[in-house]
Amino acid sequence: MHPKMSVKLAGLVLRSPLIVASGVLGSSTRLIKKVSENPSVGAVVTKTVTYNPRPGYENPTAIDLGFGFLNAMGLPNPGYLEYRKELSEIKDLAIPLIVSIGPSNSEEAAEMVKALNDVSDGFELNLSCPHAEKLGLEVGSDPEKVRSIVSSARRCTTKPLFVKISPNVTDVVEIARAAVEAGVDAVTAINTMKSIAIDVNAGKPVLSNVYGGLSGKAIHPIAVRIVYELYEAIKIPIVGCGGVYDWRDAVELILAGATAVQIGSAIVYSRSDLNILNEIEKGIIEYLKDKGFNNVMEIVGLAHTS
Ligand SMILES: Cc1cc2nc3c(=O)[nH]c(=O)nc-3n(C[C@H](O)[C@H](O)[C@H](O)COP(=O)(O)O)c2cc1C
Repeated sequence: MHPKMSVKLAGLVLRSPLIVASGVLGSSTRLIKKVSENPSVGAVVTKTVTYNPRPGYENPTAIDLGFGFLNAMGLPNPGYLEYRKELSEIKDLAIPLIVSIGPSNSEEAAEMVKALNDVSDGFELNLSCPHAEKLGLEVGSDPEKVRSIVSSARRCTTKPLFVKISPNVTDVVEIARAAVEAGVDAVTAINTMKSIAIDVNAGKPVLSNVYGGLSGKAIHPIAVRIVYELYEAIKIPIVGCGGVYDWRDAVELILAGATAVQIGSAIVYSRSDLNILNEIEKGIIEYLKDKGFNNVMEIVGLAHTS
């Protein structure tokens, strides 16, 4: 028998636990539509949109380190009002569309959620981008700011609300608990790790912004550790994200406690060839069959019982 791959997540039913992570498709709605047609994809998260339009940083904005990417794109996006128009053109997707927003305070969160409510199936609050001034990690590392932004978004929507947290804090559980108390439905862990690469020939940092966020293989064990810690501490679903390249990486996060798994850098590495998602799903199905499970939900958090 084919094990069941659909999962229930924060009120959404996903046909597969695999979610396309924020940012890796850029803000192209054409690509979102294409991705939604892949049967192995359970949901897609948009590029983070901010209150005001942002041009992004000057080049270089990204470097492939071999074991992952270091990027500081600077959250380039047209602003939430313009993006609303673009999103309203891609109605009737076969999968849930989760809109990522990066508010810098509770007023911005309220306005963005209200404006985007009817073009989304849920929101992911990006409180974790490590390279944008006055938003992302700058607000997401303060439990009080997290509480106030989440409460404000919560008051403006009944749709599923995710908060995406950062590995760049001493106590991830404290941040996640603040979000849970303020009414979030699920926690996405993790965003990128704040890092620097230096060009030894030029004798200066590679990225124009100096600091960037490290993603990919290098951060996978950090993501597994954080999902594991959160699973022990909070009662709401966790979405694992960080360095998933194959089925083993995905299963590891699920065993650590993730109900669903996001994939970012691996899609960039494959030059947006979405077959990688089909391969990952196939591998999970084989794993479940080999181990005698009927349903992927049966293995969520299983590493904690052994
Ligand atoms: C080029 C690039 C752009 C990204 N843009 C965003 C973004 O707009 N919002 C966000 O929340 N995360 C963004 N991320 C972070 C990813 O969504 C993900 O959290 C991170 O890369 C870890 O997952 P991975 O190792 O599978 O890439 C971006 C990552 C990359 C590589």
